Amino acid sequence: MATPPFLIVAIDGGAASGKSSSSRTLSERFHLLHVDTGSFYRAITAEMLRRGVGAGDLPAVRQTLAELRFGTRLTGRSAEMEIDGRVAGDEIRSREVNDHVSHYAAIPDLRAALVSYQRGLADFGRAHGFRGLVMEGRDIGSAIFPDADCRFFLHAEAGERERRRAGQGLHDQIRERDRIDSSRKTSPLTCPSGAVSIDTTHVSLDQVVEQMAAAVAAQLAPA
Ligand code: CDP
Repeated sequence: MATPPFLIVAIDGGAASGKSSSSRTLSERFHLLHVDTGSFYRAITAEMLRRGVGAGDLPAVRQTLAELRFGTRLTGRSAEMEIDGRVAGDEIRSREVNDHVSHYAAIPDLRAALVSYQRGLADFGRAHGFRGLVMEGRDIGSAIFPDADCRFFLHAEAGERERRRAGQGLHDQIRERDRIDSSRKTSPLTCPSGAVSIDTTHVSLDQVVEQMAAAVAAQLAPA
């Protein structure tokens, strides 16, 4: 019997652009494994900070990456990254991690260490009986899964995104993170060519999700 197709949905965009809420909804509606790759960069950043390894100390970053053991735990519908057998907690949303994560994420060796890990989550999703995966980040449709079945790029005016973050009670310099993420040499934040670009500034999350869900449903419908 032929293996059923495994759908790959890529959602990219800047901070507070609506990626997390929309990807969680699509995951639930279509039984897709949910993968928040920002949480991976955040967890590694928290671990580097805990060990006192600065983003500017490349030899120490490389050495630490070689020592860390990455695993995956399924929590609900989400794939969470384990580092040395442990899933990071709320510390990954701290002000300290917000302030440093883009500097670590700009390091090519660190990104390279995550590429095969992220691609391997397709097998993890298949093994757990999902129909596909929805992965959110900055470089999913451009670098991780350029051949994804659906690729979306979400964006919104910076002022609106700052209001959303403040509404969550979080201190987050999103303009600064976006600046660093967009200008780095390796896999910068950009709308991949061919991706569906959606401006979420003035539309409700429900409307955004419906537009995305229609595209996903069209891919899942029998030809
Ligand atoms: O949720 P929010 O938009 O605030 O950020 P996030 O998705 O948790 O990502 C945190 C940071 O990780 C980003 O600002 C990027 O520096 C980095 N990141 C990345 O470089 N590539 C990804 N695929 C995902 C996140």
